[in-house]
Order: sequence, then structure tokens, then C-alpha cells
Amino acid sequence: MIILKSAEEIEKMRKAGGLVARVLEAVVEKAGAGVTTLELDRLAEKIIRDAGAVPAFKGYQPDFIKCGPYPATLCTSLNSEVVHGIPDDRPLEEGDILSIDTGVELDGYFGDAAVSVVIGEAGPEVRKLMEVTQHSLKAAIVMCRPGNRVGDVSHAVQAVVEAEGLNVVRRFVGHGIGTSMHEDPPVPNYGTPGTGPVLKAGMVFALEPMVNMGTHEVEASADCWPVHTADGSLSAHFEHTVAVTDDGPDVLTANSPAAAGRMEKKRRLG
Ligand code: MF3
Ligand code: CO
Repeated sequence: MIILKSAEEIEKMRKAGGLVARVLEAVVEKAGAGVTTLELDRLAEKIIRDAGAVPAFKGYQPDFIKCGPYPATLCTSLNSEVVHGIPDDRPLEEGDILSIDTGVELDGYFGDAAVSVVIGEAGPEVRKLMEVTQHSLKAAIVMCRPGNRVGDVSHAVQAVVEAEGLNVVRRFVGHGIGTSMHEDPPVPNYGTPGTGPVLKAGMVFALEPMVNMGTHEVEASADCWPVHTADGSLSAHFEHTVAVTDDGPDVLTANSPAAAGRMEKKRRLG
């Protein structure tokens, strides 16, 4: 069942989403060679708790994970890690691709977003991976209008990615979001236009393309958290929480234009 949100609820989700955006901005600002992902995690948790919110990932325990609840505020997935990389004390190095995913619960509502950055200089292949993944998320966002279907959103991502010779991860999907982090419907990053549930004003989705340079296949060891590409190829991940409204898509985890500019620069140049 897809839960529709009222305009008031969407404003609450915008508060949660705005906090997620602020956290990602601060973490991207601090990320650099020599910094550890644990340091980034501590910064993120402090910003979230200081805002009176709760890190949504910390303590999260789905059935299919057999090594305990998620231990951190951020997922920090490096290079061939696709999602759910756990922050640790390895210093970041020049050339690392770091995907940073976080979620918060504020006043009963959730926000969820992710961004990928390059530490130091990005070569042309890596730059292309980042740009195509980001572009595929934008293509999904513009489809979030009443009357379109989930398959239109899914197909938009797949079309952008595959046209560039890259591949979308199939095992993990985007999702509805609201008073729970994961609600119906699942929003795959591949699909057929004109299929799936019809979008209505008040639906809110976490759209999250995960894109591999190699095949779409992924693996996780011992049913534990970190997921990596099966062929060891590099992977990128971008995510926004987006409301469907009568006026079109409304990105609830958007950064301020100035912050977006600073993050963009970091994505290109490190
Ligand atoms: N954005 C991811 C998701 O929607 C991140 C979840 S991380 C977890 O599932 F630790 F909470 F599982
Ligand atoms: Co998500």
C-alpha cells in the first residue's frame, strides 16, 4: 500500500530532508585525503543529534543481514563498494570514489539521500561514471509527476545509464519513504515505461540509482552489510527524497544553490 502524504507532512519531510542535505554538505566539505570515514561518521552523527533528530541507519536490522544491526550514521562505500560500506579508520586516499549515504528521523518523518565524490583528481572514466549516475537521478526526478507510472521513473534511470555503456544495479532499489525509512513502492532503477503503480500527488520516493562501470552484478560477503561489484569495477550512487506534487517533482533533500555549487566542484576536482 502506498501511503499518500498531506502538504503538512511533506513540509515535515522537507525539514528532515533539509537536515540530510546539511549533513551531506558538511561531510563532503570535510572529506579529503588523510581523513577517515569514521571521522566523517562522527561529524554526521553530531550534526543530526544537535538538530534533535536521530540517525536513521544506526541500529537498522533487516532480516537478510546476519551480522548484526547497521552500526553507523553514514554508509561510506569506497570504489568497488556499491552501498552499505561501514565507516572505518582507513584514511581516504587520492583517487578514491566515496559514496556517502545517510538518513535521519526528525519529528517522526524520514529523509534519505546520498552523494558520491572523488578524493583528489578524477580521470575521464571516473568523471563519466559520476556524471552519468547524477544525470540518471535527475532523469528519474523529472518523471515524478501525477499520472506517470513507477516504470517510467525506473526506465528513465536505465535509459540514461545504458546509453552510456554503464549498468544499473538491480539487486537494490529505491523506495517509498515517510514515517518509515522504507515504504511501498519499491522503485527499481530499471523497468518498462507505462507499467507499475500510477503516481499520485502526495507520494514520496527515495530515488537512488547505483551505477557500475562493469556488469550490474553485486555481492555481499557472509550476508553482511558491505555490498561490492561482482567484477570489482567502480560504482557510484546518488539519492534524493522526492515528493510527487500537482506542480511536479519536489526534491526534499535539495541543497542550497551555494552548497550545491561547492559540492559539484568537489565532485569534479576533489
Ligand atoms: N539508502 C539506503 C536504503 O534506502 C541506505 C540504507 S542503509 C541501512 O536502504 F543501513 F540503513 F540499511
Ligand atoms: Co534509500
